[in-house]
Amino acid sequence: MTQDKKKQMAAVAALQYIEENTIVGVGTGSTVNYFIESLSTIKHKIQGAIASSNATEARLKACGIPVFDLNVVQEVTIYIDGADAYNPHFQLVKGGGGALTREKILAAASQKFICITDDSKQMDTFDNCPIPVEVIPMARSFVAREIVKLEGTPIYRQNFLTDNGNIILDIHHWVISEPIKLERTLNNIPGVVCNGLFADFPAQCLLIGTDNGVQTLKSKSQFTKF
Ligand code: A5P
Repeated sequence: MTQDKKKQMAAVAALQYIEENTIVGVGTGSTVNYFIESLSTIKHKIQGAIASSNATEARLKACGIPVFDLNVVQEVTIYIDGADAYNPHFQLVKGGGGALTREKILAAASQKFICITDDSKQMDTFDNCPIPVEVIPMARSFVAREIVKLEGTPIYRQNFLTDNGNIILDIHHWVISEPIKLERTLNNIPGVVCNGLFADFPAQCLLIGTDNGVQTLKSKSQFTKF
């Protein structure tokens, strides 16, 4: 089965978690694009959506799904997003598409976070996965030097600005033994807006497209949320 087919299956499976008359947080990326297609089939049942990027906002609107500003919404019941990698602890790496900051805001602001993904993205550790870091442009070199001190190899993402007008450093060749600690350490570097480790903000549920259908994994520690 192709990776795209697996992404699509996971995206369709997420529909069963959408409750009527709620506002749905919507991530960014090719897996989420399949989810938006599916969501449009039940758009009359929901109030609307909050987008994690300009690209997602445009797609939602093109499908006729009302898009809300997070600032005017009291409660986001659920957030659905993809990932670049996931581990057995429901921790994720995100930001391949550069939308990590708004994605993390929505993951934190929502009651439930479901990650739709496929089995090619499973990793025991994130050592071989580049970690995107969104940085205020004037701090680019300073932040890069601080990351080198932490033994990462920062690569400037050329010709790319985030929806927030910032740049991305992708950090390669990192041995990541403590993802939560590293996530917090990165956040402490002045000039860093956000980083793509979602270890402090893991998913509560993984819907994983596989050759044998969609595998559902629910986090025990946060299972009560479901
Ligand atoms: C966007 O910034 C990312 O976090 C995406 O959610 C992630 O890269 C997954 O993308 P795909 O669904 O396209 O694989």
